[in-house]
Amino acid sequence: TVTAVAAPVETSNVQETVTLSKDVTILFGSQTGNSNGLAKKMAKKLEEQGFQITLSSMGDFKPNQLKKVENLLIVVSTQGEGDPPDNAIPFFEFVHSKRAPQLDHARFAVLGLGDTSYEFFCQTGKDFDKRLEELGAERLVPRVDCDVDFEEPATAWMNDVLTALTQSSDTSSSAVAINPSGTASAVAVESEYTRTNPFQAEVLENLNLNGRGSSRETRHIELSLEGSHLEYQPGDSLGVYPQNHPQLVSDIISAMNWKGDDIVTISKHGDQASLHEALLHHYEITTVTKPIVQQLAELSSSDELKALVSPGREQDLRAYISGIDLLDLIQDHSFVGVSAQDFTSVLRKIPARLYSIASSPQAFPEEVHVTVRAVRYEARGRERYGVCSVHLAERLEAGDTLPVYIQHNDNFRLPENPDTPIIMIGPGTGVAPFRAFVGEREETGASGKSWLFYGDQHFATDFLYQTEWQRWLKDGVLTRMDVAFSRDTAEKVYVQHRMLERSKELFEWLQEGAAIYVCGDEKQMANDVHLTLEQIIAQEGQLSPEEATEYLTRMQQEKRYQRDVY
Ligand code: 2AM
Repeated sequence: TVTAVAAPVETSNVQETVTLSKDVTILFGSQTGNSNGLAKKMAKKLEEQGFQITLSSMGDFKPNQLKKVENLLIVVSTQGEGDPPDNAIPFFEFVHSKRAPQLDHARFAVLGLGDTSYEFFCQTGKDFDKRLEELGAERLVPRVDCDVDFEEPATAWMNDVLTALTQSSDTSSSAVAINPSGTASAVAVESEYTRTNPFQAEVLENLNLNGRGSSRETRHIELSLEGSHLEYQPGDSLGVYPQNHPQLVSDIISAMNWKGDDIVTISKHGDQASLHEALLHHYEITTVTKPIVQQLAELSSSDELKALVSPGREQDLRAYISGIDLLDLIQDHSFVGVSAQDFTSVLRKIPARLYSIASSPQAFPEEVHVTVRAVRYEARGRERYGVCSVHLAERLEAGDTLPVYIQHNDNFRLPENPDTPIIMIGPGTGVAPFRAFVGEREETGASGKSWLFYGDQHFATDFLYQTEWQRWLKDGVLTRMDVAFSRDTAEKVYVQHRMLERSKELFEWLQEGAAIYVCGDEKQMANDVHLTLEQIIAQEGQLSPEEATEYLTRMQQEKRYQRDVY
């Protein structure tokens, strides 16, 4: 399946008679690190062809440099409601403001990363693409919008950009710029295991961290990285490829009257698997996206479904597909006689899930730990499961293996200076990376103060890693800890309430240069925590709301306010 959606091709054909610049600026806006990785790859490709590269995160790029840029490549992902990643926001706003310079002499190309299961698919990439054109820049190649399986369309975009740049710069006239030595020799031993070639990690432990009677089930999973050469830092995430639920797979197969051991082709290269295996390991079956229903509607004999995908019904279609899985779709509409091959070839590959790593690599060499909460709920009278979390909770034991890779996240890093105080806000599974942070600070003997805000429903059953925090507190590795158990009292208390109670001290820490980290639920917790931080800064610093907002923005730019939210 081709997952790229290209923007309309530009019709204006500019004659290139002059030699164009070989200076290329690549800016990335990344939340989880995918854009960052792709931008680095692009930089390497272009450098090998003799281009001069400026590679920068949007957060680090000085906006006043924009007017000097001649070739601008943007690689950017989109957050939930169509927003840019946190650290790209100031640059995004600058480009869209009146202060943005005219870019008549510049050329540009945009690569958007996103997920077709969201309404505002690749919105930030689209916004940049439109705005750069408005500012007078010339589009080198059409924008490409990538779905979660971005590798292929991203590579195609890179090759097109490379061709466009070489054809119009003096590198095309001769072979001078082609790197004569070909592949440079790598110094460090780099792991061969990546997102597209995951490592089969052995499970060492798989424990439930919640006590009996809790409404939660949170697994602490320890994996071995021995022999993989995989390395990570606190703040990085682990990518995990899950298996779908076997019950859902068999229900789909029987609802369609297929046979599980029929063979289907699962890739363009002709790789094959049994239908059962393909639905278990290879395809996403729990999310139905707009492009998928549109293609399946053509195979269906349901007039209702065909009508639903017709122009003008976008709202209804969106409402219908929200929260349904493939089995719902099959039960709602007739697909009689559709072959497994035709049906499965429109599906998306199952995407990896990212979990914030919960271990310090110093404390646990050759291991990686994650903290995963099982997601279970009911919808339309049927039990539903979070694909990865329930796979890990119910069908993974010590000795089994799990395909994983490391997703580096430069947006969530301990301060470079070990003396810098840190404030960590991580209720629920949001506490995971802070176990890595504090473990790392203990192992490296860092002297900076540290303060944890933790919360969950009940003290007795839901205090994740309680004994570790208490030991760290006793040993002075952790300076302070404030907890909020929301369902132990008549009135709910959340982490932000504890922060407010301690606002004076918290602001003192900020004034001393502390860095703030927030991890966990985005929509509710992280937003409320953000507002509370603004409130504390305004109140304690005697600032206006606008000044408090600026204070936090400045902290963000200085990387003293970092979030890992989901
Ligand atoms: P609740 O489930 O009692 O509402 C970890 O999931 C903790 O975060 C729980 O105690 C949960 O409380 C709490 N929580 C829910 N919404 C929150 C919000 N908006 N801000 C902070 N914590 C929240």
